[in-house]
Amino acid sequence: MVGNWKMELSHKAAVECARAIKKMLSSVEVSADVVVCPSYPALPEVAEIFKNSEKVGVGAQHVHWEETGAVTGAVSVLQVSAFAQWCIVGHSEQRELLGMSEEHVRDTARLLLTHGITPIVCIGETFTERQREETVSRVTQQMEVLLAGLTRPGISKLVVAYEPIWAISSQNMGETPEPAAVAEVALLIRKLTATKFGGDAAERLRVIYGGSVKPDNVAAYVSEPGVDGALPGNASTMVSQFVEIVKQVQKAAE
Ligand code: PGA
Repeated sequence: MVGNWKMELSHKAAVECARAIKKMLSSVEVSADVVVCPSYPALPEVAEIFKNSEKVGVGAQHVHWEETGAVTGAVSVLQVSAFAQWCIVGHSEQRELLGMSEEHVRDTARLLLTHGITPIVCIGETFTERQREETVSRVTQQMEVLLAGLTRPGISKLVVAYEPIWAISSQNMGETPEPAAVAEVALLIRKLTATKFGGDAAERLRVIYGGSVKPDNVAAYVSEPGVDGALPGNASTMVSQFVEIVKQVQKAAE
């Protein structure tokens, strides 16, 4: 369960949100990995809040694919590694902002793994690609580039988030994929992984779904075979919704 707070919360609101999540989850049994991803300036404070938490980990929303360099405004893995155990990679909003290529996504994931940070790599088709029925070819192309740059041990730490761009709430299309369609893509992702690294690696790979995840639809997604979790954005910035999503996922896993 990865909460992507995007740029939705002020610094103060992010810290308050983290404190409230900690408090509300204290009485909830959580066996899944729960992660919150604040903006960079809030990372140290949010990391401090969850320092000894067994329930919630902290992630960054992006890092640059180079470790260091003259890149004004960018943030390196070296600057987040003290605070984050997880990092979103290749979110469609970052891909668009930075012109991030599949190779950049692959390099970022590889770099994070060398620093012991779990990459949560976002892939998925655009609205136009979906209309042209290119979901399979798009996801295949994205996975092939990613897999070509990783090793078997890396795969067992990786999280792939299938996030169809048209389903993200800010796109205002009001549509989400059928849970069964998400399961089909998750199966495709595992098949491609198995072809390169074998069945065991494909099983260990975690595949999650993102795109307008809410308390009332998350159970349907995570109940599908091969769908291990979810990546809510908007709903994760509302404490009660995020906690309810965690509860729903927990219930679905029991
Ligand atoms: P959403 O965002 O849940 O608001 O659709 C998900 C994401 O973009 O990661």
